[in-house]
Amino acid sequence: MILTVPDFTLKQIAKPVVNFNTMELNALIAKMFSIMEAKDGVGLAAPQIGISLQIFVYGFSVCKRYPDAPPVPKGVAINPQILSVADDLIELEEGCLSVPGRRGLIKRNKAITFSAADATGERYEKTLYDFAARIVQHEIDHLNGILISDRASNLYDSVLI
Ligand code: NI
Repeated sequence: MILTVPDFTLKQIAKPVVNFNTMELNALIAKMFSIMEAKDGVGLAAPQIGISLQIFVYGFSVCKRYPDAPPVPKGVAINPQILSVADDLIELEEGCLSVPGRRGLIKRNKAITFSAADATGERYEKTLYDFAARIVQHEIDHLNGILISDRASNLYDSVLI
């Protein structure tokens, strides 16, 4: 499984999902979870596998790439909208499966409240903090064509990919 996709897909604004409760959507979400887990990721957005749709998955219990991160319950977010963010910014080293071998220090809001649809199309609201809030901000960035290279002032080599 290779996560190298054309740059333009990663830099595009992803399209909203319009058809919910379909076999295709459920299969895509299942595939995204399995790729994320196989790659030891903490989150994955559809544009990262070449699909320009506003979908991301996240969550893990233990992650080799972020050994100090506390577990984050799994979630799916479709057509997400940021409702509010905490003013507090936290700077932390961050990587991305689409930018292998590179990491950078990125400031993210300590908390985020967002709304999104689940696979049935029902919308929900959620507030997440700290590392979970960071993941969601990173994945929403992917849906807007923004990569860690756009956020970090410089990226450096990392063995943690
Ligand atoms: Ni990423």
